[in-house]
Amino acid sequence: MNSMSLSARWSRCLLPVTNTLWRLALASDFQPAVDPSKWHLLHRGPHSRIYHVHGTTPCVVKLAMPRSKPRDNLRKYVACQAKREFRGNRTLASIGLRTPTVYGWGVTPSPFAYYESALFMRPLPDFKSGLTVIRKENDAAKRRHFLDTLAEQLACLQGNGYIHKDAHFGNLCVPGDGSLVWIDNDIRRPATISARRSGLAKSLRLLEKTARDAVAPHEWQFFNHRLRTCLARWPKGEELAHEVR
Ligand SMILES: Nc1ncnc2c1ncn2[C@@H]1O[C@H](COP(=O)(O)OP(=O)(O)O)[C@@H](O)[C@H]1O
Ligand SMILES: [Mg+2]
Repeated sequence: MNSMSLSARWSRCLLPVTNTLWRLALASDFQPAVDPSKWHLLHRGPHSRIYHVHGTTPCVVKLAMPRSKPRDNLRKYVACQAKREFRGNRTLASIGLRTPTVYGWGVTPSPFAYYESALFMRPLPDFKSGLTVIRKENDAAKRRHFLDTLAEQLACLQGNGYIHKDAHFGNLCVPGDGSLVWIDNDIRRPATISARRSGLAKSLRLLEKTARDAVAPHEWQFFNHRLRTCLARWPKGEELAHEVR
């Protein structure tokens, strides 16, 4: 199951940690543990909390806070962060990229709730963050393989007309087999070529910014060369290739 089965059911419940009422759309065979002792904080981001929940089906829950208020307090009724990521995962999977398996998502009915949404995912098997790979990996062949895979997959994403709104090294997970898993998947599909171009330029700037100086000039050269080559293979990619230095 790479995304929620279509027999999703809506339920209302209180979730631990949040103390608010939730409206949840969950796969029919999934129920998160509601015992607070089973919820363990895994990650504290500026706009999110990620919990590992040890229930009958272990899961990772991403609780998202509204980023911009009051916009997100209202936007959540139409497309909250978790719903956008749920859809983004499905989109990426449809073009062959790996994402976490999602069990469902939920939204808080109150406009004043501290968390706007919750995404329930299968915990990824042991992985390194892409940031750790570029900052700590000393094996040149492994670094090259990582950048090569990223170039190919970023070209696939952009070549299909999509933009990952937060495409930085920290949103790439690298399991032991050296593949890539994309997370935090808020995806857009701009209508115009100029928007696709600026989306790609923004993603590249974000990669550079998060890398700081951990990626050597010759590695960027290799990455950019691979990206241009891979982009040229896609009907929507060719016109983007010259955005890459
Ligand atoms: N399905 C998952 N399994 C295991 N860890 C995860 C999973 N999803 C997210 N994480 C962990 O939580 C961190 C933050 O997740 P992310 O979705 O990027 O949240 P944020 O929006 O705060 O950046 C990731 O870097 C990863 O360490
Ligand atoms: Mg992230």
